[in-house]
Amino acid sequence: MTPAAAPNEAERPAKEGGSVPRHVAIIMDGNGRWANKRGLPRVAGHRAGAEAVRRTLRAAVKNGVEVLTLYAFSSENWRRPEEEVSDLKGLLGYYLERELDSLAKEGVKLRLIGDYEAFGPDLSKRLEKAMASLQSNRRLTLVVALNYGSRAEIAAAARKLATKAVSGEIEPASIDEEALGSHLQTHGLPELDLLIRTSGEVRLSNFLLWQAAYAELVFTPTLWPDFDEAELVKAIEQFAARERRFGGR
Ligand code: IPE
Ligand code: IPE
Ligand code: MG
Repeated sequence: MTPAAAPNEAERPAKEGGSVPRHVAIIMDGNGRWANKRGLPRVAGHRAGAEAVRRTLRAAVKNGVEVLTLYAFSSENWRRPEEEVSDLKGLLGYYLERELDSLAKEGVKLRLIGDYEAFGPDLSKRLEKAMASLQSNRRLTLVVALNYGSRAEIAAAARKLATKAVSGEIEPASIDEEALGSHLQTHGLPELDLLIRTSGEVRLSNFLLWQAAYAELVFTPTLWPDFDEAELVKAIEQFAARERRFGGR
């Protein structure tokens, strides 16, 4: 086998021994159970979850994280009752409006992955407007995964490459890891360093399967609405204490 090419500067994972992960992703799980434990409707859990997003985003900025990728709605979440999907859409629109100014003040840039257009033209337009207005911010990139599925993302990348090969734009032999990675929706972002999942579930649920190849994984029993800066710092400390080998010795 030929040796793997060194990742370019932008894609380079956090240095061995580097204590702050450049790119953190979170599977924000447990809203429903949080509400259930309190005898509240699930939507109350989602509302509390949105507050946890605010806290965590602020904490990420404060702790020097460059990219925070949040799994907000999976392509499989359409299987939920219509009422819950509609509550989630409503909350997304509401928080987008409410948080836009503070996102701008914090220097947050917004990027979306997943097929967010499935949420309808109204919400899509609002999301696009928000992205445009935060475009020049540099402090932290917030990537929100909306109607996202990793397998579909990889299949779409393969499709784009196949189309280019058929039209003669590229040689099939030139399709390598870098080519595929650069056709994913996460293209240009730094390599994923740390992936956190809350609520005690230990699975990836079709999130960032390609990108997580060498990410450090942290699973916490904390339900998402209870997640806060202390929890994020704890996960970052676990990350810093781990020895990343990338296949070396
Ligand atoms: C995560 O919480 C939020 C979304 C998936 C949108 P859940 O709604 O999955 O909460 P649990 O897993 O049922 O507790
Ligand atoms: C994953 O959580 C999706 C999000 C957090 C948006 P789910 O609650 O949908 O995942 P499963 O069904 O437990 O795998
Ligand atoms: Mg869940």
